[in-house]
Amino acid sequence: MNNSPIGIYDSGFGGLSVWRELYRALPDESLIYLGDGKNCPYGGLSVQQIERFAIEAVEYLLERGCKMIVVACNTATAAAIATLRKRFSHIPIVGLEPAVKPACKLSKTGRVAVLATESSLRSEKFRRTMKLYSGDVEVVPVVGRGFVEAVEASQEQSEATRLLVANVIEPVIEQGVDVIVLGCTHYPFLRSVMRDVVGNRNVAIIDSGEAVGKRVQSLLERYDIRAEEEHEPSYEFLTFADEDYRERLRMKAFGEE
Ligand code: DGL
Repeated sequence: MNNSPIGIYDSGFGGLSVWRELYRALPDESLIYLGDGKNCPYGGLSVQQIERFAIEAVEYLLERGCKMIVVACNTATAAAIATLRKRFSHIPIVGLEPAVKPACKLSKTGRVAVLATESSLRSEKFRRTMKLYSGDVEVVPVVGRGFVEAVEASQEQSEATRLLVANVIEPVIEQGVDVIVLGCTHYPFLRSVMRDVVGNRNVAIIDSGEAVGKRVQSLLERYDIRAEEEHEPSYEFLTFADEDYRERLRMKAFGEE
């Protein structure tokens, strides 16, 4: 048993989609969320830059006594997870991967799309995941250009965002894709706009939230570091940006923004 917090890290607001999943699935666990904010978006940065930011973020969370780290960012996972695990080998570190395997199983048309950032899609890690799980299914990589910026600006419901999303996913659906994988943790915040664009066509939209929840749960068991049942959890929000950003993180986590 261990009542220390789980640290959750993302470039900004995106990892809050994972935070919400952990908050729901692990009600006894204290959570510390770090949304970088200062260097967001990561999607167009080099591997070296992202690695540097990720190391700084994990060090910051470990200084606050975290017992486990969840890199709730596909881009940082693709660029830095191996380095992080080598450098901080004393602590379990969970990464985010696009749900290519379940998507390929689910597809009836034999064509799925993975929506992610440019950096994630050009990574070696993404190529490996695709090769490992796609089998006969064709995986179409698609950059969600502008999506992260829309979420960071809390513009999920605006007309401009609806247009942006439609321009990206319409052509994908026209290609016969019947499963869209959200391979960036910011994108689940655009799910309702995406569902609007999809309308009554038979297209599933899936993310990795639930799988991460299960993975975290199983590692807590394996390392015997679960919080006690009567433990009163705390929820803290940190950022490298400013106080206003920190408050927005807290509000978005609890669905108040
Ligand atoms: N939320 C991040 C991801 O899952 C990255 C977004 C960004 O900073 O570009 O990929």
